[in-house]
Amino acid sequence: MRKIIYSLITLLFVVSCENSNSHDSEKEKFINDLISKMTLEEKAGQMNQYNGFWDATGPMPEGDYQKKRYNELMNGQVGSMLNVIGVDEIYALQKIAVEETRLGIPLIFGHDVIHGYKTIFPIPLAESSSWDLDLMEKSARVAATEASADGLNWTFAPMVDISRDARWGRVMEGAGEDPYLGSLVAKARVKGFQGTDLSEINSIVACAKHFAGYGFSEAGRDYNTTDFNHFTLHNTIMPPFKAAVDAGVRTFMNSFNTLDEIPATGHIHIQRDILKGDWDFDGFVVSDWGSIDQMIPHGFARDGNHAAELAVIAGSDMDMESSLYVSKLVGLVNSGKVDINLIDDAVKRILRVKYELGLFDDPYKYCNNERSIQELGSDQNMQVALEAAKKSIVLLKNNNQLLPLEKEGKKIALIGPLADDKNSPLGNWRSQAVYNSATSVLEGMNKYKGNRIVFEKGVELYYGKTNFHNRVKLNYNDRSDFGKAKLAAATSDVVVMVMGEEGHQSGEGRSRTNIGLPGLQFELLKEIYKINQNIILVVMSGRPLDLSWADKNIPSIVQAWQLGSKSGDAIAQVLYGDYNPSGKLTMSFPRNVGQVPIYYNFKNTGRPSTSIEQVTNSGYADVVNSPLYSFGHGLSYTNFKYSNLTIDSGELDYNSKINISVKIENTGFFTGKEVAQLYIRDIVGSIARPMKELKGFEMIELAPGESKVVSFEIDSSLLEFYTYENKWEAEDGKFHAFIGTNSDVSDYKEFHLVK
Ligand code: NOJ
Repeated sequence: MRKIIYSLITLLFVVSCENSNSHDSEKEKFINDLISKMTLEEKAGQMNQYNGFWDATGPMPEGDYQKKRYNELMNGQVGSMLNVIGVDEIYALQKIAVEETRLGIPLIFGHDVIHGYKTIFPIPLAESSSWDLDLMEKSARVAATEASADGLNWTFAPMVDISRDARWGRVMEGAGEDPYLGSLVAKARVKGFQGTDLSEINSIVACAKHFAGYGFSEAGRDYNTTDFNHFTLHNTIMPPFKAAVDAGVRTFMNSFNTLDEIPATGHIHIQRDILKGDWDFDGFVVSDWGSIDQMIPHGFARDGNHAAELAVIAGSDMDMESSLYVSKLVGLVNSGKVDINLIDDAVKRILRVKYELGLFDDPYKYCNNERSIQELGSDQNMQVALEAAKKSIVLLKNNNQLLPLEKEGKKIALIGPLADDKNSPLGNWRSQAVYNSATSVLEGMNKYKGNRIVFEKGVELYYGKTNFHNRVKLNYNDRSDFGKAKLAAATSDVVVMVMGEEGHQSGEGRSRTNIGLPGLQFELLKEIYKINQNIILVVMSGRPLDLSWADKNIPSIVQAWQLGSKSGDAIAQVLYGDYNPSGKLTMSFPRNVGQVPIYYNFKNTGRPSTSIEQVTNSGYADVVNSPLYSFGHGLSYTNFKYSNLTIDSGELDYNSKINISVKIENTGFFTGKEVAQLYIRDIVGSIARPMKELKGFEMIELAPGESKVVSFEIDSSLLEFYTYENKWEAEDGKFHAFIGTNSDVSDYKEFHLVK
């Protein structure tokens, strides 16, 4: 209760300061005038968001809800809609809001534009493996251009949840396990979606989600409880959200989980004290789908009235699909349970974003069929998709130089259920992608005419339709095509096997406890291996899979994720060496699921383990602690040699900078790109510190024999963390700085931060 009163006082103070400071601003004046004309019902209406009447991305209510929603729309009791698709549909609904309702306030139309709209880019986890921030900004820009050309003005992206658990299906939507890289990616994506000016015709509002902690769902089970401490919240989970605010993100979405045993949707401390208080965020917060109502099964709210009261007090400004704000807020204000200032604050935030989009000047500005025809899936956009797909591929292993493939005179057996799949590469959250519209590996490889390709599926991965609500059904007993695949392998020089997850096997509600190759694929892989060991395994998946057996036995492994519209072309270009792979993992790949959660920036513990033989150390009896493939890992067809690590001073004070540098030489035979990574270890802190933290990176390109010195500047701001004093600050003492090709780097230079 004390917290609520404190937050209310803070809020009232903020609201009144804001009023006095910005009275002269045209925007705030316009909004205040409008609010002064609104009835309480209309205010609650602005805070109400409904799903369009089809394409649901969450559980729809039972019964005759459509008519009720339509009536509410006519009465000005809807502020936003999601999942309304297409210029004509959006135009028609906007027309009702603008022309039929008393005040004519335009709707804002949201949709999950996660990795493209019609042109599909690699899933975000894949794209983060490019470590190419300009590219990520560019693909978000294209997605925004297409979505806005089709009538939309708000995306529920980027998802900036840090996750360390490959069992959680939603890792596909994020940028992996690291808060530093995750923050830079968050910024790039927000800038890409929103552009430099939100009122531009091809800018859409971005939404940082899911606030907060959703990526820490226990045991990787979606929607599950989380349990992490206060320091993990600040040092690991919050930084990408803060970065999104710094980049100017205009909306936030809260999350389904509890944190500190309180549902995020009802969490005053994170939404009011941190987001709207400390970070001064003046955009709005939308709930996740039904998450206000879901505070009842959480055991936090008694009923709908109580849930609406708790959510609005906690700073959830817009209700996605619970219908509780529109039905309960008027009563709650009239009975004195909810202060009208809280409602006004929420409405003001929503109207502000609408104003910034320019909707009050022209509510139909995004409704232009010609623009939609021109933009959606244009050749130019597809070129960006191809670039992104190539850059997202990670070469995990390449023994015996099996890759790149020779271009002439070989017989190649192309085997696996995903080799001719034109749908799975589109991944989950594929928005308006046309079914089966990606290029397959078979198509990509067939563009190279010099070799003979024999394709055999070998095994069916799934059957039945998969959409948001259906699960993938796996084939566990039909081995009838094994024989044909084995024959192809026996008579070929090289075997390319394309295996992994069907496109909807990762994503929301797609948690898995077994993260091996699904169905009979693993069995087929082992059977083929008995016949021909010249195997290149191309893994398509929305998460890190358990590839331990493959790593031990298969000479070359390519992580090809779900790469979007141009998947097959990109994979073929990499296999044939027309693009030298440059991607680096942003999530650790475990040796087996028992190691999960696993991440590179772990703490040392009091009993660090150095060998599997040790009993009383923090290790396992059956497997070493290190991951199979570490964060930052990714090979090239060439080799890079790191040498001459140099630091220009062993002492740094709070106002100066020091430099650390390393020489990198291309010692192989191909021109290639390398991401040099700077890690720092803070040896002693007021709280236990990670063994390493990524603090910088640079991508360079080197021709064979060429070398370059890469250097990084270190100042005290780079060493800051959320300390025992509950402050972001650097603590003096000893540090180790490493520069290497991945997070396993061991060569370091020592320096001291001194007062
Ligand atoms: C629920 C998901 O958690 C969220 O990420 C998404 O934006 C909404 N549904 C709307 O589709």
